Amino acid sequence: MIHVYMDDFRRCPQGFTLARTVDECLELLRLTEVDILSLDYDMGPGEKNGTDMAAAMVREGLFPREIYLHTSSNSGRKSMYEILYPNKPEHVLLHNGPISFERLDEIARDCKVPPQSKWICTANHGFAPYAQEELRRAFGSVKSTMLIPGEVFAAILQKAVEEVTEQLAAAPPVFLRHAFLVDWEWCPGEQADADRHGWLPALRKFLLGDFRLPGARVAVQTRKSEDGLWSGTAAEMKDALQNELQELAGTEFVVRDADWVISVFASRDRVYAGVARPEDNLSDWNGGAIRFRKEEGQISRAKFKLLEAEATFGIPFASFREALDIGAAPGGWTSFLLERGLNVTAVDTAKLHPSLLSSPKLTFVQRNADSVKFKEHQFDLLVCDMSWSPKLAAKLVTSLLYALVPGGTAIVTVKLMHKKPMALMQEVIGLFQDARLQVQRAKQLFHNRDEITLYMIKY
Ligand SMILES: C[S@@+](CC[C@H](N)C(=O)[O-])C[C@H]1O[C@@H](n2cnc3c(N)ncnc32)[C@H](O)[C@@H]1O
Repeated sequence: MIHVYMDDFRRCPQGFTLARTVDECLELLRLTEVDILSLDYDMGPGEKNGTDMAAAMVREGLFPREIYLHTSSNSGRKSMYEILYPNKPEHVLLHNGPISFERLDEIARDCKVPPQSKWICTANHGFAPYAQEELRRAFGSVKSTMLIPGEVFAAILQKAVEEVTEQLAAAPPVFLRHAFLVDWEWCPGEQADADRHGWLPALRKFLLGDFRLPGARVAVQTRKSEDGLWSGTAAEMKDALQNELQELAGTEFVVRDADWVISVFASRDRVYAGVARPEDNLSDWNGGAIRFRKEEGQISRAKFKLLEAEATFGIPFASFREALDIGAAPGGWTSFLLERGLNVTAVDTAKLHPSLLSSPKLTFVQRNADSVKFKEHQFDLLVCDMSWSPKLAAKLVTSLLYALVPGGTAIVTVKLMHKKPMALMQEVIGLFQDARLQVQRAKQLFHNRDEITLYMIKY
């Protein structure tokens, strides 16, 4: 017994056999015993539609045990229902709508076919191989295709969608910055050069059929490779797609706080798209590229790292009182901590930016950090951004831990100096753990270049 999903565009739910045309679907009903049948209506220009399907089912007496109508066309659904309802055998269950998510989950769990899901994955430039390695360690085999060298790749995982999202949420990856599930894919074949935008109407049709989007707050996030199937910029691609989706009833297009994110990536020979909850993409920013506005008089770009750590790790900086900033110059992190209302002791051999020096909450110690002394438990926050050999930096930070209260927070950037960042990271994390720092999160933030940020708590 099989379940059949008749649709010309949508991704086939796990556990179903896909029929892309009415004739394919009828053939399955003739040849196999079908348990659940889920029907679309509009099957593409010039193709037989759901009315033809319902009429043929009645004519030939081809009925499954249960029928769902997942089409988004109200008139189409009505037409199919009106044909099927009076003519179906009594034992056949006919639902005037789509299958619930819970039921789909149940079917996916029960099916014997090995699960599979495809994702568009993004890491900081040059770190895609480590994101691939993380996926391999978490999910076993990964088949991947590079879309932007060193940065963006398509990955096929032998795991169901729900398993991947749950596992990524439970154990967030370090190098994988963003991932969206591919629900829809377009490959132009021979017409690639003829029409670089030919996918747009097809994607429009697919998205107009998505019953989650009408009335919701929707963010459209578009990206492309340089030679991607779109001749304009990614921003123009977004405008064009939003324009195509104007008919979505009551949908509000937003940038932040969306209910659903439509993600699109146009590569050289394929366009990938997916609709997901923002939290299921690892970041609600397009490709995980979180942007902050540069302020007038901003002392250093390094400040963005701490702003991003605050947003990503949910650290309530304003709740601390006394901070120690090791390797503070020119003072981006110090200025951020002062803005959050903390007293800051800044240590650096170099000078701090003059604009900071008049702050009554600042103590500046212009010395090498290995020669400074503090009171025991003087600080409840320790931050360190030294761009130094990671093991020496770890040694220095751990030697100053007596000054941090138990339960205090430490934020440390770790430079990934050589070619084995994963091993180095594990080694440095080990050093911190031995010194009674518990790692809450380790992550390569968008604003980290060749480094990662550790968020730790002293116990
Ligand atoms: C990347 S910068 C820090 C940027 C800073 N977080 C900001 O937001 O402006 C690294 C700093 O660490 C300092 N540094 C490196 N080793 C040090 C040491 N042993 N003692 C004190 N400062 C050190 C350097 O002088 C440099 O100013």
